[in-house]
Amino acid sequence: MIRIAHISDLHFGFEHRKDKMEKVIRQINEIEPDVVVITGDLTLWGIHEEFKNAEEELSKIESEVFVVPGNHDGRNDGLKYFDLYFGKRKRYMKIDNVALIGVDSTLPDSDDGYIGREQRDWIAERIRGNCIHIIAMHHHVVPVPHTGRNMNVLIDAAEVVEALSIYCRGAIVLAGHRHVPYSTKLLRNHIIHAGTASSYKVLMPDNNYNIIELDESSLRLKLRFVDLGEIEIGKFSIKPETPESIMKYHKLSITKKILFLSRKNSCRSKIAEVLFNSLSPMNMHSVSAGTSPENSVDELARSVMDEMGYALSEPRKLSHEMREDAYYTVSFEEEIDADEHWKLARPRNLEECKKLVKEIEERVRDLIGRLLIL
Ligand SMILES: [Fe+2]
Ligand SMILES: [Fe+2]
Repeated sequence: MIRIAHISDLHFGFEHRKDKMEKVIRQINEIEPDVVVITGDLTLWGIHEEFKNAEEELSKIESEVFVVPGNHDGRNDGLKYFDLYFGKRKRYMKIDNVALIGVDSTLPDSDDGYIGREQRDWIAERIRGNCIHIIAMHHHVVPVPHTGRNMNVLIDAAEVVEALSIYCRGAIVLAGHRHVPYSTKLLRNHIIHAGTASSYKVLMPDNNYNIIELDESSLRLKLRFVDLGEIEIGKFSIKPETPESIMKYHKLSITKKILFLSRKNSCRSKIAEVLFNSLSPMNMHSVSAGTSPENSVDELARSVMDEMGYALSEPRKLSHEMREDAYYTVSFEEEIDADEHWKLARPRNLEECKKLVKEIEERVRDLIGRLLIL
């Protein structure tokens, strides 16, 4: 079992309650958690003295400390002092099968939060199968109710939640910021907010923090008041569930390049390309290419397509990049490697050519339907 103490919004400086902080640290040292996660707002104004005092006090914690900055820490260019006293703003740590990933959700001198593509990719790179992933950040990915301003402030919250749902198969997200403890489940993710451990700005009966106990299959969450004891919030299963609906939305929105391949006499792939692009949804595009240098479109196909209002240009020669870029490949000859083969004979006369165009159109329609969520 892994035990985590999750504290937040300490606000060293004018707002800080030294008495509460001292008690929190004493209590944590008694609990002996495997790690203490601090989800930001160590200071009030991001100034040097506040960071210095925070570091001095937090060094009394006997367990490992895992800390990320909050919006108050970014005030007045304060993150340089965060770096000075607490080191990296993005951090990674592993305890048994629990991976802790900390990110910086602050924007300079702004109360809004933003993770950004670079950090989202950084998170994705640290996802390992079979691990329980805990993502620590200051800003919340869902609005926290009953906080006065029940709004969301993480600009790319939707992207973050989707990335966690897809890559981690569900993560535990620890956040702070609103000074109100709260937890909820969103898709596969457990979202857990800590209140404030030691600020005067407390919207609860007392300052508080979270105790999280993790084992292979469950998460137990307890809310610990500094002077009023402990309340068990709940025990939740952390077995990955499968809301596949999110993957369907994701797949629908991916742009897809389809490659039609043939060897000599590229009329079949060229017809498929032209028909596909005329029937194509907004996010799909097809190209065709011949694998033989002397490939060309024959006049028969050109005249049939011309009659239907389509102009057939000369085929392109297949390049390595075309293969690399392709989301899906279709070939007309079995010896050409592709995701699927369309066994259609080359036409020898006008009738056969017209029949071929009809057949290709049917197959293209079918392919588009399948590609939507492929
Ligand atoms: Fe705060
Ligand atoms: Fe904050």
